Amino acid sequence: MNYKKYYRKSSLKQKGVGSFFLKEISKEKPKYFLEVGVFHGVTARNICELLFRIHGNDFKYIGLDLFEESDENKNEIIPNTTFSNPLKTFYFKYIKRQNPYSLEAVKDLLSKFKNNINLIKGNSNTILSKIDMSKIDYVFLDGGHEYNTVINDLNCCLDIIRNKGTILCDDYDLAHAPGVKKAIDEFVKKNELNCEFLWNNRFAKLTIKN
Ligand SMILES: C[S@@+](CC[C@H](N)C(=O)[O-])C[C@H]1O[C@@H](n2cnc3c(N)ncnc32)[C@H](O)[C@@H]1O
Repeated sequence: MNYKKYYRKSSLKQKGVGSFFLKEISKEKPKYFLEVGVFHGVTARNICELLFRIHGNDFKYIGLDLFEESDENKNEIIPNTTFSNPLKTFYFKYIKRQNPYSLEAVKDLLSKFKNNINLIKGNSNTILSKIDMSKIDYVFLDGGHEYNTVINDLNCCLDIIRNKGTILCDDYDLAHAPGVKKAIDEFVKKNELNCEFLWNNRFAKLTIKN
């Protein structure tokens, strides 16, 4: 399946990477998907389209994001949420009348799947430990890029791996966010996990050892 951009911003904008990502997910055919770091919801929509193709309506998608820039969130790395393309700025300001980086706008983008989704606004450092992980079988970890946040998020998702699920981490080897690599390397070593590097070390795929 081709990865679509839906006129918004996405982490997976580099040519080919979005479709590679979808192919990776389709190998596992997950039914309960968690994305930490939803941003404009482009990857979320692509994931829902893919899971709908595989399972019909028998899937769930949970997405967690701060969905706002505030003083409380000032220590988190939030990508630039504005567009360089003036047409897109116009479209969201005057036609959609939405901030694409808002819970409402992402809900709108995912409205086709309203019975399958659960979007949560909040900081993973406080929210993730409260989410029931027992059914989740795939996580795309792409939220905060600070070491402490990544370690928290990974620890909260450890049971998913123990239940034979997968955590796919984005931005493993990012020069301006070295905490991601440090946290993943420590987590993999401590818990004796399998770690596969994909797309030139961009993704780290964590699973249980056989
Ligand atoms: C790189 S973007 C995610 C991109 C998205 N996965 C995609 O594929 O387009 C990172 C997102 O993580 C969110 N974020 C950063 N720190 C967070 C935290 N501690 N808890 C929840 N979300 C966080 C930001 O608001 C931002 O939207």
